Amino acid sequence: MSTLVVVGSQWGDEGKGKITDYMAQEADVVVRSQGGNNAGHTITFDGNKYALRSIPSGIFNPKIKNVMANGMVINPKQMLEELKGLEERGIKDYQLFISNRAHVVMPYHQELDGAYEQFKGDKKIGTTKRGIGPCYADKANRIGIRIGDLINPESFKLVLKDTLTIKNMELKMLGLEPFDFDKIYNEYVQYGQEIKKYVCDTSLLLEEEIEKGSKVLFEGAQGVMLCLDHGSYPYVTSSSPTGASVPLNAGVAPKYINNILGICKAYTTRVGEGPFPTELDGDLAHYIRERGHEYGTVTKRPRRVGYLDCVALNYARRISGINYLALMLFDVLSGLETLKICYAYEMDGKIINTVPATLEEYQNCKPLYIEMPGWEEDITNVTSFDELPLNAQNYIRKIEELTKTEIVLFSVGPDRKQTIKLKEFF
Ligand code: GDP
Ligand code: IMO
Ligand code: MG
Repeated sequence: MSTLVVVGSQWGDEGKGKITDYMAQEADVVVRSQGGNNAGHTITFDGNKYALRSIPSGIFNPKIKNVMANGMVINPKQMLEELKGLEERGIKDYQLFISNRAHVVMPYHQELDGAYEQFKGDKKIGTTKRGIGPCYADKANRIGIRIGDLINPESFKLVLKDTLTIKNMELKMLGLEPFDFDKIYNEYVQYGQEIKKYVCDTSLLLEEEIEKGSKVLFEGAQGVMLCLDHGSYPYVTSSSPTGASVPLNAGVAPKYINNILGICKAYTTRVGEGPFPTELDGDLAHYIRERGHEYGTVTKRPRRVGYLDCVALNYARRISGINYLALMLFDVLSGLETLKICYAYEMDGKIINTVPATLEEYQNCKPLYIEMPGWEEDITNVTSFDELPLNAQNYIRKIEELTKTEIVLFSVGPDRKQTIKLKEFF
């Protein structure tokens, strides 16, 4: 039995796509279990760069079964466009399986996402405006539409009728235009027919694969600090990107989950609003942002950047059961004289080592730093730990010490080849 969960251990965009693609070289199955096209996972190999949104990062390997599991929210229009885009680039030979229990992101979800953000004004979340929150809200409110409904024209008609009655009342209350039943029905019933061939009970498929000894890789989206339950609420996404959510969101028993690989940038970024204790501004922020090309894959927004925050990282490790770390974008830090790592927060005169629950408390946290000397050398061509400058080696060792977790892999560039695995863990 071998499963591996790839979890974002910060605020997203840690390089989960790159590592999932890299580890997929050893996998039989790759599973996305939560989120939707709010994710943007960048993968670079053989001179090509791909930005995946809903499709799992094992799609490039014809031998891999790619699963979009029940915990996802799927925008069928976007997903079909994404597949078409891949096919146009020569990715035609793939295996894709979509859960009949996954929820469908409808156009009114996107409309409502934008409207809520506008009403919140300066308290806006800074969502990706892909309708993710409103879709998960309908799921919890039991008025969602599932993929299993979408692919059956009669069921779809019935559920859409009921749901749209409610959604149109909501839209009218907010002063927005209601949606026309026939227009949505005719468009979306067509998408249902197009994706029908991929749809099945993915929970059964995963059980079968795990039981026969296949290697299954679970590709997290977002990051633990964006978790609906454990993140910096309310500045979070609407699903749970933790390791604990994988069994529920993929329909596999918890006993099958053995290893959780936390993906972590060598610094920190955040896109969207919300607390960020180690945030930087000025020249240093600019230096890191430009070297790391820190602009959102989905929305192109400049990402906020800061020093590595080991309080948040340790919190993610604890909540998510991370037992290995992958250190990403390490090359970005070359050329900095001094590096800082946050090891604790000071809150109201007290030193704390965990992330507080309320926004008010979190906004009051001041980072406490250790300082380390940086390195000048370009490390993008390094192929082993020993080739790293001594100060870069020390940086890795310090993170391991502060998180009590082994760094099993580090990454020195976007390309698949710029990945240095330090031990076998899958
Ligand atoms: P994800 O959402 O976690 O998959 O991460 P994104 O793809 O949104 O953002 C990570 C960005 O960093 C992408 O543009 C990657 O191509 C890039 N990247 C990944 N690893 C490295 C690395 O080690 N060095 C550099 N310079 N870029 C990297
Ligand atoms: P990947 O998988 C970074 C952020 C948004 C916003 C908040 C809520 O690429 O790491 P949502 O649209 O989900 O309701 O937005 O969450 N967010 C992400 N930030 N990476 C992501 O995904 C994100 N998905 C959502 O910016 O702050
Ligand atoms: Mg991303």
